[in-house]
Amino acid sequence: MLEIKKRINIAKSFGSATESYDVSARLQRFSGKHLMPWLPNRNDLSVIDLGCGTGFFTEILSGRYQQVFGVDISTNMLNYAKDNRSTDICWLEGDAFSLPFASKSIDLVYSNLMIQWCDPIEKVISEVLRVLKPGGLFIFTTLTDGTLLELRSSWSKVDSDKHVIDFKTLDHLTDACNTAESKLLESREQDVVLEYENVLHLAHELKGLGASHVPSKTNKGLAGKDKWKQMIHAYQEFQEPSGVYPATYKVFSGMVVKLTS
Ligand SMILES: C[S@@+](CC[C@H](N)C(=O)[O-])C[C@H]1O[C@@H](n2cnc3c(N)ncnc32)[C@H](O)[C@@H]1O
Repeated sequence: MLEIKKRINIAKSFGSATESYDVSARLQRFSGKHLMPWLPNRNDLSVIDLGCGTGFFTEILSGRYQQVFGVDISTNMLNYAKDNRSTDICWLEGDAFSLPFASKSIDLVYSNLMIQWCDPIEKVISEVLRVLKPGGLFIFTTLTDGTLLELRSSWSKVDSDKHVIDFKTLDHLTDACNTAESKLLESREQDVVLEYENVLHLAHELKGLGASHVPSKTNKGLAGKDKWKQMIHAYQEFQEPSGVYPATYKVFSGMVVKLTS
């Protein structure tokens, strides 16, 4: 599928989840808060929240910094953010692959759980570096290989279609951050295991987040009822003695600096 078409579909998927997003976003809240200690203390900075979604963290950033832009590819997400967040924020519809900012104009790009939707990731990092001033920071979280391993394994027992997006490996991500003009200053990996009452609860949460869209899925329709039953049966392998169903998220946090020369 053409890259641009993939991105339009990702935007639609997130757009359709705007109203349910905030109540489903427990992982996003956790990972976004974990980035806070890395934020620079100076407040006279121009900041982008890239892939800002409903603007929860954009609002926190606007309480700390002089000029804050919330950028997202989904019009619905941005409309929700405009209606519900601080009026001090400048909301812009934009694609991480082609940001609506001049080169070397921004001090800090913050991005929480967005870049796993971007392929190739090198292009997005290069675009972020273009807009950053020398010495500027890119502070982000993303998900790596092994995320949703229980769901991937359960579907693999049913058919060979792609039901979970491909997450980058740690090495790939690290290499992408260390370029001729940038250096990964800090990084952290954490396994976050969320618990679900049942597999449908997990499926509803992913849908509620707009994160159930898989760009390279072969069969675009919903899997049939029988396939779902088989997958749910296979997921029982992971059920904990307490009865809950776990889902693993491998959260990577990174701080990249744009080198000055
Ligand atoms: C999982 S949500 C995270 C939202 C927010 N950062 C948070 O912490 O709640 C991912 C967001 O990235 C946006 N997104 C996905 N691909 C994008 C792209 N290429 N450019 C800009 N935004 C994108 C989606 O529309 C969605 O709002």
